[in-house]
Amino acid sequence: MRKPIIAGNWKLNKTVAEAVEFTEGLKKQICNINRAILPEVVVAPVFTSLYSVGQILKDSNCIKMSAQNCYWEEAGAFTGEVAIGMLKEVGCSYIIIGHSERRQYFSETDEMINKKAKAILAADVTPIICCGETLEQREAGQTDSHIKSQIEAALDGISSEDVARSVIAYEPIWAIGTGKTCDSVEANRVIKMIRATVSEIAGESAANSIRILYGGSVKPTTIEEQMAQSDIDGALVGGASLKVDSFAGIIDGCMKVKA
Ligand code: 13P
Repeated sequence: MRKPIIAGNWKLNKTVAEAVEFTEGLKKQICNINRAILPEVVVAPVFTSLYSVGQILKDSNCIKMSAQNCYWEEAGAFTGEVAIGMLKEVGCSYIIIGHSERRQYFSETDEMINKKAKAILAADVTPIICCGETLEQREAGQTDSHIKSQIEAALDGISSEDVARSVIAYEPIWAIGTGKTCDSVEANRVIKMIRATVSEIAGESAANSIRILYGGSVKPTTIEEQMAQSDIDGALVGGASLKVDSFAGIIDGCMKVKA
């Protein structure tokens, strides 16, 4: 069985002091739960908080840490960028790439996302590769073709073994930060289509291993229905991951269904 992942993407939120307070609070609330039933829990702070959060998490492996972005080169004249080895050094085991906000506001292309995915996997870190359609694409009946092309581009040239240990997050753009969750049955349908695409690219075994998350207005009140779907392996949570109680509520809901 695929181990579920509940990941909190903090986006541009929390000072170092706030990130530390949250992490200590979450640790108290969940780290005494039996690891066999606890999903993989991941937090993704801003770059400036990674070191401090990493220090709090380094002795327990009940919460893992992700960066929200990276650059694919190891070092050099790339002002403003952060290398994967540097993120690994402070304790990141995941890196989110291709989030729709980065595609939309920072002109991230499929080609850049593919380069990042390859470099992350080469460094033995796990990419969380985001995909998702706009409302216009959904209304024009282009959801499946758009997502398929995003996944094919992101995974281009990556070995089946590396695809198998990657994570994909399906985040319909119209559901992000809007309170409008995608219907669970529909989210599951798209995620099944993503899995079929992965199977075409990397084979059935990789498709059965890869974890595919849903993201977009996930809350403690929606997670049980989402986790009850056959192909939804967890959630990438924005707004509801910023408070310990609501994030812990989502983790709890996941355990009720999947433990
Ligand atoms: P919300 O949960 O705030 O809708 O954000 C989802 C998201 O973009 C996570 O990456």
